Amino acid sequence: PSVLTPTSFPWWYHKKDLLLKIAKREGTPLHVYDRKTIQDLSTMVKSTLKSVDRFHYAMKANNNPTILKLIRSQGIGFDTVSIGEIYNLFQNIDDIKANEILFTPNFVSRNDLEKAFQLGVNVTLDNKYMLEHWGSSLKNQKVWLRIDTDNPQGHHEFVQTAGKDSKFGIPIPEFKESLKLAREAGLKIVGLHAHVGSGVDKEKTWAKTLQTLSDLAELNPDIRTIDLGGGLKVKEDPIEGKEFDLRLVEKALHDTKKKMNPNIKVVMEPGRIFVASSGIMIGRVNQLKSKLDHHYVGIDVSMSHFLRPALYKATHQIVNLSKLESNHNSKSIVVGNVCETGDILNKSAMLPENTEEGDYLLMAATGAYGKSMSSRYNLLQRAKEIFI
Ligand code: LLP
Repeated sequence: PSVLTPTSFPWWYHKKDLLLKIAKREGTPLHVYDRKTIQDLSTMVKSTLKSVDRFHYAMKANNNPTILKLIRSQGIGFDTVSIGEIYNLFQNIDDIKANEILFTPNFVSRNDLEKAFQLGVNVTLDNKYMLEHWGSSLKNQKVWLRIDTDNPQGHHEFVQTAGKDSKFGIPIPEFKESLKLAREAGLKIVGLHAHVGSGVDKEKTWAKTLQTLSDLAELNPDIRTIDLGGGLKVKEDPIEGKEFDLRLVEKALHDTKKKMNPNIKVVMEPGRIFVASSGIMIGRVNQLKSKLDHHYVGIDVSMSHFLRPALYKATHQIVNLSKLESNHNSKSIVVGNVCETGDILNKSAMLPENTEEGDYLLMAATGAYGKSMSSRYNLLQRAKEIFI
């Protein structure tokens, strides 16, 4: 197919027959995940980013228990953002220990913060308010502080989590005062954290964060850990512009780390890169329609099942799995069946001219922020999840 380049042939390209069989057997819409790819991605991330001492998987990307277990079996911990996520881990992973879990909430309730302390997970505070007002809940705790490094990054404004327009983090000018408030509240700051955005394609971003946080760490000898957040970019469409090279991320980190206090451990908590390309969605063509010069292909995957295109205008490659060997040269608008004009999955998909009702279309790289952001809007059925 013309939209695929040889270097972009992913796992699913070689498993066409199996995927078609599964789609017919299970029905659509459907998520399919490839176990080996999940394992390979963890191995690849760990072996490339050697300067990172420990990884925690941001489970908001995908909380399927099988995925959680596969990732943990690679020696990776978890990053959580709600009490629900923490309970989910204790429920699904028998021998999980509290010290494998980071808790990085924002605008959390005092009640949930206290629960997290009781459970013994590693808490990051992202607001001075808590230091000022919740002293008795915080006394004798060891926590990390989330810093706003004022360097917003990411694939869309909704996922940029630094700078004056973002609700996250303690601005650098408030750092010294926060240390003082922490001392007064009787708690120890033992780590610093920053997550500047998601789908970040500038390879030096994490080294820059490391530099900023290690400069701040010099103001407090108790700081033993620096957490650089997540945000590593994944290509969701092979014809997307810029390549993202993890090796350049490592090079920049390595150069920065060697000038740093050697007693400080570097931690990262990516979500997307561990799972995005391990998953695909399959939808069945319901109807076709040409309206003026627009050619619509309507399938049974919608914004209820996969929100990223509607919410962020994200472009995920779509191919016709039933006619994978045909020339994909007809520009099509692939839409779902939800009653919203924004229910567009790909507004410039290239599909075979003879795409027809009953064909199965495959949407690539849906393993991250797919199922976890889905809803039952319009009371559509949720998509099943299958592992191969
Ligand atoms: N750490 C913190 C504190 C975060 O807020 C996030 C993501 C991560 C780690 C993991 O980021 P990742 O490596 O997955 O980029 N729904 C959006 C992404 C929102 C991410 C929110 N926070 C999307 O589908 O693009």
